[in-house]
Amino acid sequence: MSDLSQAKRALEWIDRGFEDRIAELIALARIPSVSASGFPESEVRRSAEAVAKLLAASGFERVEELAVPGAHPSVLGEWLGAGPSAPTLLLYAHHDVQPPGRASHWRSPAFEPARAAGEGEAGRLYGRGIVDDKAGIVVFAGALRAWLESGGRPPVNLKLIVEGEEEIGSIHLSELLRRHRERLAADVIVLSDTANLATGLPSITTSLRGILNIDLRVRALDHPVHSGMWGGPVPDATSALARILGRLFDANGEVAIPDFEAGCRTLGPGERARLEALPIDEAGFRADVGMVPSARFIGGGGSVIYERLWHRPALALIGLEGVPLAQAANQLIAEAAARVSVRIAPGQDAEAMRERVVAFLEADPPWGVEVRVEPREGSGGWCVEPEGPAFAAAARALAAGYGREPVYVGCGGSIPFVAPFAEVLGGVPALLLGLEDPICNAHGENESLDLADFRRALRSAALLYAELA
Ligand code: BES
Ligand code: MN
Ligand code: MN
Repeated sequence: MSDLSQAKRALEWIDRGFEDRIAELIALARIPSVSASGFPESEVRRSAEAVAKLLAASGFERVEELAVPGAHPSVLGEWLGAGPSAPTLLLYAHHDVQPPGRASHWRSPAFEPARAAGEGEAGRLYGRGIVDDKAGIVVFAGALRAWLESGGRPPVNLKLIVEGEEEIGSIHLSELLRRHRERLAADVIVLSDTANLATGLPSITTSLRGILNIDLRVRALDHPVHSGMWGGPVPDATSALARILGRLFDANGEVAIPDFEAGCRTLGPGERARLEALPIDEAGFRADVGMVPSARFIGGGGSVIYERLWHRPALALIGLEGVPLAQAANQLIAEAAARVSVRIAPGQDAEAMRERVVAFLEADPPWGVEVRVEPREGSGGWCVEPEGPAFAAAARALAAGYGREPVYVGCGGSIPFVAPFAEVLGGVPALLLGLEDPICNAHGENESLDLADFRRALRSAALLYAELA
């Protein structure tokens, strides 16, 4: 039977077995595989074991942990049944998740996935890690299973890597590459971990921003003291920190660090045309992100929003420590801290950015207080021209799987895996696909997945295996 009629059978199998895929996703998402420090490592391990079981049940062979000392476990499964002359795809997803946030803000408990009606016909599934990125695991595994159980065989070889520490910056990635590079050799990389521009609108991501997190600690006193007895001549740590943080932005919200945008790529004519052709609904965008009505976009509206989001760097304060209001006790605060997070644009030099931001934070400490600056995790940006047969294959698979032509987008977020892997594999194309939609709330409370898109992604993946042959 031809690959195409086999693919059709695989799609029918996906539709028949869709509830089983949802059940598999729920089972994975019941495991709180938070990779951040302070959360039990044993749960990430339990998650890796559940992933390994799912891969094996889906038809992957040689399923095993890709051991790296000190790292949260990553899992690899292979299906090499297409033979040595067929192309090999390296599929990527991650099974670790972000911390759940505030329990009281979840509509149902973070690790007890619950289905609810949504705008889409199939509703949405809520839970931490559902869309970021456990759905990606089930998509790739389910697509192989669909081929095998409908009596066919995909015409490509598959290697599926499911990483265990993406959300903490893939800190053992270079060691993983050093140890397992041979086993991960492939002709194309396919990820399921990025966003669709709108629910139901398949999107191929052609750029990622990098990230650089920096902690800033301010110390003004060696212990807190009575603010009336000492305040006036004696500086406090929180006010000093506020002053440093206040220097970071100008009155329009632009970052005030000199050369902050140095090295940004200028968009090529094709790229700019694609970006300007994208639908942008400012009011919808505002509503999806939940901006308060009075807040303005930094730098203006329209398609410049996408340009700023994907092709320019950004800075935000993602953590702040002083004294909780409930414990404020008319004292001068001795120590305060903040985490500054920089998104690096594709093309920018991550090292140069680190130096610039560190120098700015360290310069001229207010009133001579002690300032310590500690860079943390980071990763560079990435971009690709969506040309050549792999991108054409992806476009066909998505168009058929979603029933809509795909669009080309950038991504404001980061995936440390992509740039080093594409490079180590000799510049192979990387196809970045995924299921995050504007209302999915990845990393926030009430993270969710559109179930109609989940089915479309499963169908697209099964078709992609055929199209990439
Ligand atoms: N799936 C996201 C990447 C992403 C972000 C895709 C936004 C689409 C839109 C990924 O899991 C992620 O959150 N990455 C981290 C990487 C960091 C820890 C190095 C990020 O961007 O914060
Ligand atoms: Mn992710
Ligand atoms: Mn994430």
